[in-house]
Amino acid sequence: MSLTLSENKKDDRQAGVAWIRERLGPRSIVLIGLMGAGKTAVGRRLASRLELPFVDADSEIETAAGSTISEIFAEHGEAYFRQGERKVIARLLDSGPQVLATGGGAYMDPGTRANIKSHGVSVWLKADLKVLLKRVGRRDNRPLLASGDPDKVMRDLMKKRYPVYAEADITVESRDVPHELIVADTAEALIRWLERESKAAGAKGRGKGE
Ligand code: S3P
Repeated sequence: MSLTLSENKKDDRQAGVAWIRERLGPRSIVLIGLMGAGKTAVGRRLASRLELPFVDADSEIETAAGSTISEIFAEHGEAYFRQGERKVIARLLDSGPQVLATGGGAYMDPGTRANIKSHGVSVWLKADLKVLLKRVGRRDNRPLLASGDPDKVMRDLMKKRYPVYAEADITVESRDVPHELIVADTAEALIRWLERESKAAGAKGRGKGE
Protein backbone atom coordinates (compact mmCIF):
# COMPACT_ATOMS: atom_id res chain seq x y z
CA MET A 1 0.00 0.00 0.00
CA SER A 2 1.53 3.27 -1.04
CA LEU A 3 -1.19 5.55 0.24
CA THR A 4 0.17 8.21 2.50
CA LEU A 5 -1.58 10.91 4.45
CA SER A 6 1.17 13.32 3.55
CA GLU A 7 0.02 13.43 -0.08
CA ASN A 8 -1.00 16.92 -1.05
CA LYS A 9 -3.66 15.86 -3.51
CA LYS A 10 -7.04 15.93 -1.83
CA ASP A 11 -8.31 12.72 -3.49
CA ASP A 12 -5.25 10.73 -2.44
CA ARG A 13 -5.61 12.04 1.07
CA GLN A 14 -9.29 11.12 1.19
CA ALA A 15 -8.44 7.64 -0.10
CA GLY A 16 -5.78 7.29 2.61
CA VAL A 17 -8.25 8.27 5.30
CA ALA A 18 -10.89 5.85 3.93
CA TRP A 19 -8.30 3.06 3.78
CA ILE A 20 -7.35 3.51 7.43
CA ARG A 21 -10.96 3.90 8.58
CA GLU A 22 -12.02 0.72 6.78
CA ARG A 23 -9.30 -1.39 8.35
CA LEU A 24 -9.64 0.18 11.76
CA GLY A 25 -13.33 -0.70 11.94
CA PRO A 26 -14.86 0.10 15.34
CA ARG A 27 -11.50 0.13 17.13
CA SER A 28 -10.00 3.15 18.86
CA ILE A 29 -6.53 4.49 18.20
CA VAL A 30 -5.24 4.67 21.76
CA LEU A 31 -2.33 6.97 22.55
CA ILE A 32 -0.17 5.99 25.49
CA GLY A 33 3.04 7.39 26.94
CA LEU A 34 4.45 9.52 29.73
CA MET A 35 3.23 12.93 30.79
CA GLY A 36 4.46 15.46 28.25
CA ALA A 37 4.79 12.96 25.40
CA GLY A 38 2.18 14.89 23.39
CA LYS A 39 -0.74 12.44 23.60
CA THR A 40 -3.40 15.14 23.70
CA ALA A 41 -1.82 17.51 21.20
CA VAL A 42 -0.95 14.76 18.70
CA GLY A 43 -4.21 12.89 19.34
CA ARG A 44 -6.37 15.92 18.64
CA ARG A 45 -4.61 16.61 15.35
CA LEU A 46 -4.56 12.94 14.31
CA ALA A 47 -8.29 12.68 14.94
CA SER A 48 -9.00 15.73 12.84
CA ARG A 49 -6.86 14.32 10.03
CA LEU A 50 -8.63 10.95 10.12
CA GLU A 51 -12.03 12.60 10.59
CA LEU A 52 -12.55 10.72 13.85
CA PRO A 53 -13.77 12.02 17.21
CA PHE A 54 -11.05 12.84 19.72
CA VAL A 55 -11.52 11.88 23.36
CA ASP A 56 -9.15 12.70 26.23
CA ALA A 57 -9.51 10.19 29.08
CA ASP A 58 -8.21 12.62 31.73
CA SER A 59 -10.84 15.22 30.75
CA GLU A 60 -13.53 12.55 30.84
CA ILE A 61 -12.42 11.49 34.33
CA GLU A 62 -12.57 15.12 35.48
CA THR A 63 -16.06 15.53 34.02
CA ALA A 64 -17.28 12.29 35.61
CA ALA A 65 -15.84 13.29 39.00
CA GLY A 66 -16.78 16.95 38.81
CA SER A 67 -13.26 17.85 39.96
CA THR A 68 -9.76 18.19 38.56
CA ILE A 69 -7.22 15.38 38.63
CA SER A 70 -5.15 17.31 41.19
CA GLU A 71 -8.23 17.58 43.41
CA ILE A 72 -9.01 13.86 43.05
CA PHE A 73 -5.43 12.96 44.05
CA ALA A 74 -5.49 15.40 46.98
CA GLU A 75 -8.90 14.46 48.32
CA HIS A 76 -9.07 10.70 47.64
CA GLY A 77 -5.54 9.54 46.77
CA GLU A 78 -4.00 7.87 43.74
CA ALA A 79 -5.66 4.44 44.19
CA TYR A 80 -9.10 6.06 43.98
CA PHE A 81 -8.06 7.96 40.85
CA ARG A 82 -6.79 4.73 39.22
CA GLN A 83 -10.08 3.00 39.95
CA GLY A 84 -12.02 5.80 38.25
CA GLU A 85 -9.53 5.87 35.38
CA ARG A 86 -10.00 2.14 34.76
CA LYS A 87 -13.79 2.47 34.66
CA VAL A 88 -13.86 5.56 32.46
CA ILE A 89 -11.43 4.07 29.92
CA ALA A 90 -13.42 0.81 29.77
CA ARG A 91 -16.53 2.84 29.00
CA LEU A 92 -14.77 4.99 26.39
CA LEU A 93 -13.30 1.96 24.61
CA ASP A 94 -16.84 0.83 23.79
CA SER A 95 -17.38 3.93 21.65
CA GLY A 96 -14.86 3.53 18.82
CA PRO A 97 -13.79 4.38 16.26
CA GLN A 98 -12.08 7.38 17.80
CA VAL A 99 -8.71 8.65 18.85
CA LEU A 100 -8.35 8.21 22.59
CA ALA A 101 -5.57 9.88 24.58
CA THR A 102 -4.95 8.20 27.94
CA GLY A 103 -3.19 9.49 31.05
CA GLY A 104 0.38 8.26 31.51
CA GLY A 105 -0.46 5.66 34.14
CA ALA A 106 -3.50 4.12 32.45
CA TYR A 107 -1.65 1.53 30.36
CA MET A 108 0.14 0.23 33.49
CA ASP A 109 -3.11 -1.35 34.65
CA PRO A 110 -3.23 -4.95 33.31
CA GLY A 111 -7.02 -4.85 32.85
CA THR A 112 -6.90 -1.60 30.91
CA ARG A 113 -4.01 -2.95 28.84
CA ALA A 114 -6.00 -6.04 27.88
CA ASN A 115 -9.03 -3.91 27.12
CA ILE A 116 -7.00 -1.64 24.85
CA LYS A 117 -5.60 -4.71 23.09
CA SER A 118 -9.08 -6.03 22.31
CA HIS A 119 -10.75 -2.70 21.48
CA GLY A 120 -7.99 -0.66 19.96
CA VAL A 121 -4.68 -0.16 18.27
CA SER A 122 -2.19 1.23 20.76
CA VAL A 123 0.39 3.86 19.88
CA TRP A 124 3.20 4.66 22.31
CA LEU A 125 4.46 8.21 21.91
CA LYS A 126 8.00 7.70 23.12
CA ALA A 127 9.95 10.77 24.10
CA ASP A 128 13.29 11.31 25.78
CA LEU A 129 13.67 12.89 29.20
CA LYS A 130 14.64 16.32 27.89
CA VAL A 131 11.53 16.63 25.72
CA LEU A 132 9.24 15.38 28.49
CA LEU A 133 10.63 17.77 31.09
CA LYS A 134 10.46 20.71 28.73
CA ARG A 135 6.81 20.01 27.99
CA VAL A 136 5.60 19.29 31.54
CA GLY A 137 7.47 22.30 32.86
CA ARG A 138 4.92 24.52 31.17
CA ARG A 139 2.08 23.47 33.46
CA ASP A 140 1.59 22.49 37.10
CA ASN A 141 -1.48 20.26 36.80
CA ARG A 142 0.26 16.92 37.37
CA PRO A 143 0.13 15.68 40.96
CA LEU A 144 2.80 13.01 40.46
CA LEU A 145 5.33 15.66 39.49
CA ALA A 146 4.31 17.98 42.29
CA SER A 147 5.37 15.35 44.84
CA GLY A 148 9.11 15.58 44.22
CA ASP A 149 11.90 16.60 41.89
CA PRO A 150 10.31 16.28 38.39
CA ASP A 151 13.58 15.11 36.86
CA LYS A 152 13.89 12.22 39.34
CA VAL A 153 10.16 11.37 39.26
CA MET A 154 10.24 11.24 35.48
CA ARG A 155 13.40 9.08 35.39
CA ASP A 156 11.83 6.63 37.83
CA LEU A 157 8.62 6.49 35.81
CA MET A 158 10.59 5.90 32.59
CA LYS A 159 12.42 2.98 34.21
CA LYS A 160 9.21 1.44 35.48
CA ARG A 161 6.90 2.16 32.58
CA TYR A 162 8.93 1.98 29.38
CA PRO A 163 9.18 -1.84 29.38
CA VAL A 164 5.38 -1.98 29.69
CA TYR A 165 4.69 0.78 27.15
CA ALA A 166 6.86 -1.27 24.77
CA GLU A 167 4.00 -3.77 24.55
CA ALA A 168 2.05 -1.22 22.45
CA ASP A 169 1.25 -2.17 18.86
CA ILE A 170 3.08 0.84 17.46
CA THR A 171 5.89 3.05 18.77
CA VAL A 172 6.40 6.57 17.46
CA GLU A 173 9.32 8.76 18.53
CA SER A 174 7.82 11.97 19.86
CA ARG A 175 10.57 14.49 19.17
CA ASP A 176 10.86 18.20 19.85
CA VAL A 177 9.43 19.15 16.45
CA PRO A 178 6.04 20.60 15.46
CA HIS A 179 3.23 18.25 16.45
CA GLU A 180 2.12 17.95 12.81
CA LEU A 181 5.29 15.99 12.01
CA ILE A 182 4.58 13.50 14.79
CA VAL A 183 1.00 13.22 13.50
CA ALA A 184 2.33 12.38 10.03
CA ASP A 185 4.74 9.77 11.50
CA THR A 186 1.88 8.27 13.49
CA ALA A 187 -0.42 8.05 10.47
CA GLU A 188 2.34 6.40 8.40
CA ALA A 189 3.13 3.91 11.17
CA LEU A 190 -0.56 3.14 11.52
CA ILE A 191 -0.88 2.41 7.80
CA ARG A 192 2.12 0.07 7.96
CA TRP A 193 0.72 -1.71 11.03
CA LEU A 194 -2.76 -2.12 9.50
CA GLU A 195 -1.17 -3.46 6.31
CA ARG A 196 0.77 -6.07 8.26
CA GLU A 197 -2.36 -6.96 10.19
CA SER A 198 -4.37 -7.44 6.95
CA LYS A 199 -1.62 -9.58 5.45
CA ALA A 200 -1.37 -11.73 8.58
CA ALA A 201 -5.17 -12.16 8.64
CA GLY A 202 -5.13 -13.11 4.93
CA ALA A 203 -2.37 -15.68 5.47
CA LYS A 204 -4.24 -17.14 8.42
CA GLY A 205 -7.47 -17.35 6.38
CA ARG A 206 -5.65 -19.08 3.49
CA GLY A 207 -4.03 -21.49 5.96
CA LYS A 208 -7.43 -22.48 7.29
CA GLY A 209 -8.80 -23.14 3.79
CA GLU A 210 -6.03 -25.57 2.90
C1 S3P B 1 -0.51 10.49 35.22
C2 S3P B 1 -0.58 11.23 34.07
C3 S3P B 1 -1.57 12.31 33.86
C4 S3P B 1 -2.80 12.07 34.73
C5 S3P B 1 -2.40 11.87 36.15
C6 S3P B 1 -1.45 10.69 36.35
C7 S3P B 1 0.52 9.41 35.31
O1 S3P B 1 -1.96 12.36 32.50
O2 S3P B 1 -3.54 10.98 34.28
O3 S3P B 1 -1.81 13.07 36.58
O4 S3P B 1 0.36 8.53 36.16
O5 S3P B 1 1.46 9.43 34.51
P1 S3P B 1 -1.00 12.88 31.30
O6 S3P B 1 -0.08 11.74 30.93
O7 S3P B 1 -1.95 13.20 30.20
O8 S3P B 1 -0.27 14.06 31.80
